Amino acid sequence: PLNVGIVGATGAVGKEIIGCLEKCCSFPIDSLRLFGSKRSAGRKIDTSKFGNITIELFSEDSARECDVVFLAVDGDFSRAHAENICKGDDGAIVIDNSSAFRYKEGIPLVVPEINAETTKGKKLIANPNCTTAIGLMAVWPLHQLFGLSKMVMSTYQAASGAGQPCMDELMEGTRSVLNGERDVAENKVFAHPLPFNVIPHIDKFQDNGYTKEEMKVTWETRKICGLADDFPVSCTAVRIPTARAHSESIVALFDTPVDIVAARKALEEAPGVKLVDDIENLKYPMPLTATGQYDVEVGRLRRNIAFDNALEFFVCGDQLLRGAALNAVLVAEAMVK
Ligand code: HSE
Repeated sequence: PLNVGIVGATGAVGKEIIGCLEKCCSFPIDSLRLFGSKRSAGRKIDTSKFGNITIELFSEDSARECDVVFLAVDGDFSRAHAENICKGDDGAIVIDNSSAFRYKEGIPLVVPEINAETTKGKKLIANPNCTTAIGLMAVWPLHQLFGLSKMVMSTYQAASGAGQPCMDELMEGTRSVLNGERDVAENKVFAHPLPFNVIPHIDKFQDNGYTKEEMKVTWETRKICGLADDFPVSCTAVRIPTARAHSESIVALFDTPVDIVAARKALEEAPGVKLVDDIENLKYPMPLTATGQYDVEVGRLRRNIAFDNALEFFVCGDQLLRGAALNAVLVAEAMVK
């Protein structure tokens, strides 16, 4: 049995990591230790499987006593501590949820269903951006069949992806409009009011006109799938006023002719994917049905009529589970088995 630690257990991702360790983790856990800042140290977190755990003040030495440490904190924290927690033969395996190490050479960026083998001999693993991890669950089995040549993605991302203050702003803003207090909701954390709106802007704009969230999809798809550094992936990332689970419309172009029956079968058989695609009965992926689910819903699968050898489909996945906590726990499973 392993000793497992979580840094940032009171945050949205940290809480979901505890949930995944309780509900679906395949390796036996001897003890679960939670680490936090001075602000959260001493607080207790009640878990169904590991009892009532008191959050310890984080120190690198205590984290190093664990076999596996999940970092669910910001990039600055990870940059300062991750490599010290895992260094040496007695260091812990560290799975980092921030973007601090995602683009660093020699540090694997892992979706276990795609590139678990890259973790071999490594102690520090980067967990991908939620949007990329969710989309690639559907793209990878199709790439295996037909050979991906280009990808264009449009996202519809839930407010909770931007954190609790953003969720609060959406809920309070929606109420203020519905109660007739305001015509347009106030905005402080989002660049514009999100209620009754969509905002085509997530994270900072880059020199090329894309946002960082969009470029993460490009950079991370290339690294996870082992594609060339100039492999064509383009994304428009949009914030929409849903609570949880990100949606994505994907156009994937392939090297070889596509066979829709084979594509459907591959998606049906792919681990971590649930094919929800029955248009006669109006069944397709939606954030409401994907919320709280481990599998990514894929549907609206069709041959794209604008391009040769191309498929178009719609994907919904819980960004805190498949897009973060569950992926991290599956990485740990792949490394300790
Ligand atoms: N970058 C993502 C977003 C976070 O803003 O939605 C992952 O949930």
